[in-house]
Formats: sequence, C-alpha cells, structure tokens
Amino acid sequence: MEITIKIFRYNPEKDKRGNYVTYKVEGTENDRVLDVLEYIKGNFDGTLSFRRSCAHGVCGSDAMRINGRNMLACKTLVRDTGENITVEPILGLKIVKDLIVDMEPFFDNFKKMKPFFINDSPLPENGRERLQTIEDRARFDETTKCILCACCTTSCPSYWANGDYYGPAAIVNAHRFIFDSRDEAAAERLQILAETDGIARCHTAYSCTEACPREIKVTKAIGEVKMAMMTGKI
Ligand code: SF4
Ligand code: FES
Repeated sequence: MEITIKIFRYNPEKDKRGNYVTYKVEGTENDRVLDVLEYIKGNFDGTLSFRRSCAHGVCGSDAMRINGRNMLACKTLVRDTGENITVEPILGLKIVKDLIVDMEPFFDNFKKMKPFFINDSPLPENGRERLQTIEDRARFDETTKCILCACCTTSCPSYWANGDYYGPAAIVNAHRFIFDSRDEAAAERLQILAETDGIARCHTAYSCTEACPREIKVTKAIGEVKMAMMTGKI
C-alpha cells in the first residue's frame, strides 16, 4: 500500500517557522509509524529528526502527535492510523528540531515531586527489608507503570494554557510514592502539590487518561491525590 505521511519540519538554524513536508512511501498496514519515519530518514532525508530508543513502548522517547493525538510512534500501526498520516511534535514544549521538543521543563516538574523512596527510620529487626502487604502494594501499582513519555502532560489543556503547571505526569509520579506505605514523605509531596502551579490547575479534562500509552488511569490517580490532600488521609 502507498502511505502518505505529512511531517512537521523545523530547523531553527534555517527556518523562521515550521512547515509540513509530505512523503509517499510503500508499506504495509503492519508497519508502525516509527518504521515509516525510519524509512524516510534512511532513504529520503537523513536530517529528519525524532527521538526513539527501545522501539517497543518501554523507553517513552518517541511521543508525538499522530493524526492529532499524542501517541508513541513505536506502538502505533498504520492499520490504526490509515494510509494518510500527519505527524507533529507534542504540544506545550519548545520545539528543538522537527519532532524533537525540549523535555527539560517536563523533567524539572517530575523532579519537583521527589520521585524516589524516602524513609529515614531504622530498618526493621530483620535488617533487610521494609515489608508491605499485597493490598498496600496494589495501591500504587498502576502509577509504577509510567514511562515518562509526556503524552499526558502535553495533551492537557491546562498545561497548554499555563506551562508552569506541574502537569499530570508529575502528579502520577508523586502518587507512586505518596501511596507507598513504606515511604515517609507523603506530606512533603502533598505540600508541593498544593502550590499555585500544582494540582489545583487540574480541571479533570480526562485528556491525560485518553493519551496514556500505558493505560494508566491518570485522572483517577490525580483524584486520589486530591482526596488525600483534602482529607489528610492516605
Ligand atoms: Fe506517559 Fe502515561 Fe506516564 Fe503520562 S502517565 S508520562 S502518558 S506513561
Ligand atoms: Fe521507546 Fe517508543 S521508542 S517507547
């Protein structure tokens, strides 16, 4: 089949603004959008720039807008997009080149959540591990699946309106530790999320949940954090 793919191109060293370039390639419906991009880069234009690493939906580096929706190029089949594809960079972050955006502000917000285990109490008697019940582990199981692809944050209308908003991905990663019974810094993280650009900027648009390639119920996780903040109960 012939695939027609329209790709946003922008080289800040040469272009005042971006434009779309259309390529026609032979492919099959089982090709992934990433395969099509690789083919174009290898055969038509080696300057085409996009991020990718694992090619298996694990590293989260190839988030892009495909036919208007945030997706991972390595997990999106031509069968699902159809033979006419438009590929653009994710929104809300500065474009560095073509489909590559500056992820620094996204990771800065992630780091604000202290996304690491905090517990300064002495280890239990056995001296080896802090035990947890299966039920306690289940409370944050879903949010451990985040691969930091930014599909959620960059599909959020509140984030588009205010780039200072910490965004859904940051809250998901705060959730992962707030609800971990072994961690001792939940109150600290909730305080950070109570700041002006924190969780209050979420207006429950659900775009984040729809965009997440890991099928994390992002809005539900944000709701649980809001509830913990309001009730003081975790
Ligand atoms: Fe990506 Fe989902 Fe994590 Fe958001 S919550 S960064 S969409 S994996
Ligand atoms: Fe790693 Fe797509 S290349 S998630």
